[in-house]
Amino acid sequence: MAAAKTTAKKAKSATEEKKIEVSGTAETKKAAAKKNSVRATASKTNYDKKKILFVASEATPFIATGGLAEVIGSLSCALAKNNNFDVRVVIPMYSDIKKELRDQFTYLGNIYVHLAWRNQYCGIFQYIKDNVTFYFIDNEFYFKRPGCYGYYDDGERFAFFSRAVLEIMPFLNFYPEVMHCHDWQAALAAIYLKTNYCFRKEYQFTRALFTIHNIEYQGRFSLDLLSDLFDIYGSYQYLVEYGNSINLMKGAIECCEKFSTVSPRYAEEIKNEYFAHGLDPIIRRNEFKLCGILNGIDDVGYSCENDEHLFANYSPEDFSNKAVCKKQLQKMLNLPQKASTPVISMVTRLAAHKGLDLVTTVIEEILQEDVQFVILGTGESHYEGYFKDLARRYPEKFSANIVFNGDLSRKIYSGSDIFLMPSKSEPCGLSQMIACRYGTIPIVRETGGLYDSIKPLKNGYTFTNYNAHDMMYVVKQAIFDYKNKEEWEKLMYRAATTDFSWRNSAKAYEALYLDMLK
Ligand code: GLC
Repeated sequence: MAAAKTTAKKAKSATEEKKIEVSGTAETKKAAAKKNSVRATASKTNYDKKKILFVASEATPFIATGGLAEVIGSLSCALAKNNNFDVRVVIPMYSDIKKELRDQFTYLGNIYVHLAWRNQYCGIFQYIKDNVTFYFIDNEFYFKRPGCYGYYDDGERFAFFSRAVLEIMPFLNFYPEVMHCHDWQAALAAIYLKTNYCFRKEYQFTRALFTIHNIEYQGRFSLDLLSDLFDIYGSYQYLVEYGNSINLMKGAIECCEKFSTVSPRYAEEIKNEYFAHGLDPIIRRNEFKLCGILNGIDDVGYSCENDEHLFANYSPEDFSNKAVCKKQLQKMLNLPQKASTPVISMVTRLAAHKGLDLVTTVIEEILQEDVQFVILGTGESHYEGYFKDLARRYPEKFSANIVFNGDLSRKIYSGSDIFLMPSKSEPCGLSQMIACRYGTIPIVRETGGLYDSIKPLKNGYTFTNYNAHDMMYVVKQAIFDYKNKEEWEKLMYRAATTDFSWRNSAKAYEALYLDMLK
């Protein structure tokens, strides 16, 4: 305990600027004065920077179940690189975070967090990476379990997490100007700020930005839990109540200063019933504070030139080694090693909104063409069974890989020719951008971020209606175009050189933060 306190003190004092005692000879005085002035400049620039705190339930490289983690990891890094903001991130300390990483975390200390009648231990760990400070909220009762979500007490786990986020601020002496909360698991941080903390002096300048990565998951709970679990006064019930239950996403939208989605198109779409999973009236009512910013990807991590997972590396200027990637992939998946047969791939969660019913409707007709089809992903068991059966019936043409495997995904992105993503809805989608980076041509449905990132004939193929035969027509067109090697290579070049970095989007977030601080 005493040791813990000392470490905490040390960490705190490290952030404070301390003057060097000026004593001794003229030489040492000079040196000390120089050192002090360097420190003064450093502290001034740091002091000048506005503070941003990301609040999220996952972040790469620590823990990831989907695109959210990649965005938290890579956007925070891009913002820190621009050096205009002091960027920090807070996530729960799950036991699934790899030991190699956990071993490098610094224990800063612990506090106790009140939540209604509960009083829970909250350890605070820190890790600094690429100029971003990551904090981890430790409580083994809540987070020492396999995976991140899907427990009966998820509401309580993320209420504790959100409350802890606000409670660690005095401990760290860090009150961000913008608390950027992501998805329903962090929604309560925005709600608590508005209903409680903003009345305290230290928190008066903190504003909440809430980003919706997927409106399907809203965090709905029984109204009975309002005070007993979520610790929200009855007078604030109207903020979180929706459809006769507690809806945390709705609460965050009401309480935040601004809210955003991960593509401009999705920001428009969720005003409609078809996309909003019941929240469209709330979105429309709060439309004045909504905007959409397209996600980027980590374009250094996803690069055909440097990716160590690939069978061979290549570049947009010289795609010749992509043929090696394709041949080795075909070999690995027991498909005939035919260079001239286009390989279509899907790397996806096997969930209905990914457009899998379109695929199952016409796949057998597509397989009549000279084509090979590779699918990678896990999900709903009926899709898993369907694709396994298809692979059994078409062993020379269809490969079903019902696993979650990062290494294989990169081998598939690079070793295939066409990438299919026919989502029914897609807030942003990262896979279509990753495919492009490897010179693999995406075919997407025009929705959400797919619409914003892929433009017909510029860097891929698109279709408008959620219709299996519309999709099949475009797939057949791509198979046909693939034979025209010269034009196809030009298309590959345009796709691989499309700018999907965070450069523009990070600037858009910076402008949004500044706008919020006006
Ligand atoms: C969610 C969305 C996906 C988006 C990702 C990152 O997983 O479903 O479209 O790319 O979040 O924002």
